Formats: sequence, structure tokens, C-alpha cells
Amino acid sequence: MTQTLEHEEVTVHRGSRSGLPLIIAIHSRALGPAVGGIRLRRYGSWRDGLADALRLSEAMTYKCAASGLDFGGGKTVVALDRHTDVTPQLRAAALADLGELIASHEGTYYAGPDIGTTPDDMAVVRRSTPYVFCLPEEHGGTGDSGTPTATGVLAALRAGAEHVFGTASFAGRSVIVSGYGSVGSRVAAGLAGDGARVLVSDVDESKRAAALRSGLTWLAPEEVPATAADVLVPAAVGGVLGPETVAELDVRLVVGPANNQLTDDSVAEALAGRGIVWVPDFVASAGGVVYTLGREVDQIGREEAVRRVLAIGDTVRLLLDRARTDGTTPLAEAKSLATTRLARLAGAGR
Ligand SMILES: NC(=O)c1ccc[n+]([C@@H]2O[C@H](COP(=O)([O-])OP(=O)(O)OC[C@H]3O[C@@H](n4cnc5c(N)ncnc54)[C@H](O)[C@@H]3O)[C@@H](O)[C@H]2O)c1
Repeated sequence: MTQTLEHEEVTVHRGSRSGLPLIIAIHSRALGPAVGGIRLRRYGSWRDGLADALRLSEAMTYKCAASGLDFGGGKTVVALDRHTDVTPQLRAAALADLGELIASHEGTYYAGPDIGTTPDDMAVVRRSTPYVFCLPEEHGGTGDSGTPTATGVLAALRAGAEHVFGTASFAGRSVIVSGYGSVGSRVAAGLAGDGARVLVSDVDESKRAAALRSGLTWLAPEEVPATAADVLVPAAVGGVLGPETVAELDVRLVVGPANNQLTDDSVAEALAGRGIVWVPDFVASAGGVVYTLGREVDQIGREEAVRRVLAIGDTVRLLLDRARTDGTTPLAEAKSLATTRLARLAGAGR
């Protein structure tokens, strides 16, 4: 079996201070410096962390290209094993190791927070390199990107609803939000504010009380795939839409922030075959990166940055219209939009 390396650069490094496996995957810098968050989580082995970094950095290339950003795709993974206890000392050592490793990329890779890391952690990494973003506002950054990501998801949801139901309004619609975290909770609040009946689900039972206090309905995670609703919002982890789950789904529209939702690209056809409109995750989830790079790199104001995030709705409309007209899937159209831009700029000598 031949396996082509599609990534420009992959670094696997054992932290000299932390001893932890640190992985930086750069998928593409064709449009500009690679950008992507630092994920710190447990894996079966560091090789699983490497596979995650490869997949997530590729998705970042598509996310940036489809959003019109002059940036490429990258990702950092700190792969913890089952037993490692992340003490404050170990975290500090890992962040110092990361700072050194990111600095060695000399501005060709920009990092930020992701699952398992925070804006405060980025302030620590900043001691070693300027190429890290989303520091807390008191350190001059834009902080947690959950709010702009949720704004972009809501814009994508409204464009999707217009396409499927003929109206962008969520009044009276039933929506399942799977994952009541930073983005999911904000999306749920936005939809409830629009008059939707919102059902939320999370593996973390401790979130249940807050959801009920907000007037939302709680759903056990195992009930999510088969529960009938108008819309599903995957806002937890990747790999949640495989052939078996898709066969079970009883919704008409799927739009959410979780990265890499499909177990593989063929699932996009299975969804379309069942008459379910799926908005590609790398389009719907781009609000955070669009906002952060706008504010922190382009130095634009808050309103202009939010305007750029809301343009995700225009992209979704374009993709869904093209897919309907051409008889293709929204994923095929989104990939075509991204690769056309990559090819055009590569042809222009970038
Ligand atoms: N935060 C951002 O700016 C951003 C940007 C782009 C993409 N994303 C992606 O969106 C998703 C949500 O991001 P977030 O920042 O809200 O993360 P988060 O960690 O704040 O929230 C995720 C929630 O999902 C829950 N969860 C985990 N596994 C679950 C499962 N199997 N079923 C139900 N719930 C489960 C967790 O308990 C947690 O409450 C992630 O996949 C993330 O990679 C986030």
C-alpha cells in the first residue's frame, strides 16, 4: 500500500522539560503561514495524537481557504497517555517546550488554544514566541474564541434553515445541540432566543443543571442519534457521523462547530442520500479563526471582525445552492471552493 505524505512538515518532538510527545503538523502554507490550535488531551498512544494532528491540520487548510483567509493549515497536539497527571509543574514545562518549538518555526506557524488549553496558557507560550494568539484581553489578546465561533455557527445555521425550511427563523423549530461546552452553550442560547425548542446533551452530567436553569431540555448522549428534531448541532467531538449514525438520524439539517464530524468523506453522500443537508464543519466552525486573525493580525475593529464572521452565512448559501443545482454535496462544493483558491494562488506564484 502506498501512502503519500500530503503534509508539508510534521515534527514529533519529546519535550526536553516535560518529556511529553509534542506534535506540530503543517498541512499547507500555500496561502500564508499555517494556523491552528494547541490540543492537549489523552490518546491511546502518541501515534493516535499524530493521526489527530494530521487530520486536524488538513481541516485547517480547508477552513482557511474556504473562508478567504490568507493562511494555511497547522495543528499542535500534546499527546498525554492514560496515566499522566497534568500537574501545574508539568503544564508549565509543556508550555515552555511548546514555546520553543513554535518559535523554531520562525513565524510560519501561528498557534492558539484548542481542546485542553486556555488563553492563560497562551500567555505563557508568548514568553518564547510572538506567534501565539488568543491571549486573555488583559494581555492584549482576544481571549476565548468560543463567542465568535458560535456567532459563525449561528450564521451558518440560519443560512442552512433558509435553504431547507424556506425561512432563516428558528421560531418553533426543534434543535438538538450535542456538546454543552463553550460553543454549544452559546449556540443553544442563541437558538432558544430565536424561539427554538432546544434539547442539549453532554457526557458531562454536571452541565445538566445549568442547561435546565436556562430553560433547555436535557437529552442523554445515547439518545441523540435517534431523537427526531428539525436540526442537529454537533458541538462536542469529531468522528460522530458514520454510516450507522447517519442511517439512524431523524433530522433534516446538520450544522455545528465540531471539527472532523464525518468518519470519512463518503458519509457526506450518505447524508445527502437520506435528504439530510450537512454544512461542512470547516465552513461552519471558522468564526473563531476569522475573528482572531482579523483582530490580532489585520488589526481591524470588533464590528468589522464580526461582519467577516457573519459572512460565513453567505458562503453557506453559495455552497448549498451550488450543491442543489449541480446535484453534488455541500462537502464537494466546499472542497472545490477551497482547492480552487489554493490552486489559483499557487498558480500566481504564492
Ligand atoms: N472553541 C472554538 O473556538 C472552536 C472553534 C472551531 C471548532 N471548535 C470545535 O467545536 C467543538 C466544541 O468546542 P468547545 O470549545 O465548545 O469545546 P468544549 O470543550 O468547551 O465543549 C465540548 C463539550 O462536549 C462535551 N462532550 C465531549 N464528548 C461528548 C460526547 N460524546 N457527547 C456529548 N458531549 C460530549 C464535553 O463534556 C464538553 O462539555 C470541538 O470539537 C472543537 O474542536 C471549537
